[in-house]
Amino acid sequence: MTIQKEIPGLELRLGLRPEDVPLLAAAESACFSDPWPQAAFQAELDNPYCFYLLAFVDGELAGYIGGVALYENCDVNNLAVLPQMRRRGIAAALLSGFLEEARRRGAGQVMLEVREHNLPAMHLYRRFGFSACGKRKNYYQNPAEDAVIMVVELC
Ligand SMILES: CC(C)(COP(=O)(O)OP(=O)(O)OC[C@H]1O[C@@H](n2cnc3c(N)ncnc32)[C@H](O)[C@@H]1OP(=O)(O)O)[C@@H](O)C(=O)NCCC(=O)NCCS
Repeated sequence: MTIQKEIPGLELRLGLRPEDVPLLAAAESACFSDPWPQAAFQAELDNPYCFYLLAFVDGELAGYIGGVALYENCDVNNLAVLPQMRRRGIAAALLSGFLEEARRRGAGQVMLEVREHNLPAMHLYRRFGFSACGKRKNYYQNPAEDAVIMVVELC
């Protein structure tokens, strides 16, 4: 999928910085019922295989995507867009940039887990060519829910 929408004021930035960590933790709490704690983002700073793409609109954090690329495998760990910034194409821009960076790092496929009732996210992933390839029982808490594993081959 190519990004067709022009999003006024949008800037994407590759790379996670120490000063981003509290911003991401706050955004995570606004977007998820089972958010990653700040310490989890902090730990990502020391992982050379991790990479993040942050979206800013008029200088304010609007969304983020992060994951790990190790040899031919790449996983998306988190993707979120702040509630007031949704349905403008920001997640599509983030995912497109993430897949491009995964390819540049030599990944042949990208995998992720998604709550089985998270239809907005599943729509997004399908638009980018992801398909379901398995399930993880009770993978999520608060509320407990199965994860659907989705994968896309990069070409
Ligand atoms: C899922 C999420 C990241 C989408 O962010 P977004 O910036 O609103 O998404 P976009 O505007 O880029 O939408 C891209 C495509 O995703 C799909 N999509 C996004 N929101 C949707 C919704 N509410 N219902 C149905 N499809 C949706 C559509 O296919 C959309 O394309 P379209 O606008 O041309 O129809 C956002 O809703 C979010 O942060 N949710 C909470 C956190 C989350 O669930 N993260 C994913 C964890 S696996």
